[in-house]
Amino acid sequence: MSRLIVVSNRVNPPSGKGEESVGGLAMALAAALREYSGLWFGWSGKTTPEFNGQLAMQKVDGVTVATVDLEEIDVDEYYNGYANKTLWPLFHYRTDLAAYDRAYGEGYERVNIRFAETLRPLIERDDLIWIHDYHLIPMARELRKLGVKNRIGFFLHVPWPAHQVFTTLPGHRLLVQALFDYDLVGFQTVEYRQAFEEYVLAEAGGAQTSPGHLKAFGRKLQVGAFPIGIDAADFARMLRSPRARRMRDLMAACTVFRHLIVGVDRLDYSKGLEERFIGFERLLAGHPDIRREVLMLQIAPVSREGVEAYQEIRGRLDALSGRINGEFADIDWAPFRYVNKNYRRDELAGIYGAARVGLVTPLRDGMNLVAKEFVASQNPEDPGVLILSRFAGAARQLDQALLVNPNSPEEVAEALKQALAMELPERIRRWRALFDNVQREDVTAWRDAYVAALAGTEQRRTALAS
Ligand code: G6P
Repeated sequence: MSRLIVVSNRVNPPSGKGEESVGGLAMALAAALREYSGLWFGWSGKTTPEFNGQLAMQKVDGVTVATVDLEEIDVDEYYNGYANKTLWPLFHYRTDLAAYDRAYGEGYERVNIRFAETLRPLIERDDLIWIHDYHLIPMARELRKLGVKNRIGFFLHVPWPAHQVFTTLPGHRLLVQALFDYDLVGFQTVEYRQAFEEYVLAEAGGAQTSPGHLKAFGRKLQVGAFPIGIDAADFARMLRSPRARRMRDLMAACTVFRHLIVGVDRLDYSKGLEERFIGFERLLAGHPDIRREVLMLQIAPVSREGVEAYQEIRGRLDALSGRINGEFADIDWAPFRYVNKNYRRDELAGIYGAARVGLVTPLRDGMNLVAKEFVASQNPEDPGVLILSRFAGAARQLDQALLVNPNSPEEVAEALKQALAMELPERIRRWRALFDNVQREDVTAWRDAYVAALAGTEQRRTALAS
């Protein structure tokens, strides 16, 4: 079996103890690597005054983790800049928030070169290399320049936007061209794959040689949809842990005679939190009879604080949550708990398990693993109801959830009303279908499908006449 090298910007070595918190990508990669005794390479999350390419190596749970420090200017221009001020908003359809600055683009290229040069000496002949997410699109091109002939795959965890949205990016063609230095590019859903294909055909003069096979820029590329899942077996184990049970009991004690509605998201403008808060406010305003019967808990750990748009949304959510409690709370009761603290995954499992409604309403989301974790946490005899945005990649698989348009607070309020009133047989019927999918299409199935497809691509890259 070939060795697997996984590369991602953020590296979160698995502790195996459920300590990791919200943030699906790192958890999924940890699970994906476990059976491969592979190598995981990425940024240490630390800075150094001058880049030195020095690797910090550790062995965690059979996986070798290799990280490198970056300079502060790299973090500004590459991570906060091009990755999170340019590509993240653009890929989530927020062209109004996307910032275009040449320095960001240069920083992005520089860090990708640095990562490629640092990883190069660790690569062995038969290794499969699997690079993850929008931070690292040009990395295969840089590895190829250094003579790497191994199979290299890329997986995009976020949406691939529609053609008209993507072309608002200056230099969009170069970014797509860089993807043609991979052997396989994976997307979360068929729609994202199609949006990419449409771009290649319309904008890059490319062609589809057969389903899933493209030709452009004088190269061939295989593409596919590989929806990511959760580590279902590990999650089931965590659910039985004392911490999860304690949390479930605690939440049950906080909601005696009340139903718990729960949302868990990184504090990000793509998550639809403002619309969700207003939806809950509408529910309370329109239904005085259920005011005392619900408690909404929104857990939203702060994220990417170096980016202004994140500071701004935080301010707006502080104001909104205060307004809702100010308007509806009584001296002995408040309807809303808004918490910026980060919780362990085993604790979150307990919280999900205590909830009657899971509210997952991103405006755009590549997949959304919180939706899947919520489903996995439910009691089969008395399961809660998942309300899910139709713009999350997960909506394709989890179509037995109550699907909503997250832009509409009215729709969110109506779905909440419907979920709270849903009778047990319907809750069980819907949940069973959801659970079946979450179990079947889990992280192992995702990894195996992707790795098999990558291993099946042609070994040597041959330049095609364009
Ligand atoms: C999303 C991205 C990941 C990223 C995660 C956390 O899931 O797709 O690549 O790691 O958010 O964001 P952060 O900026 O903290 O790594």
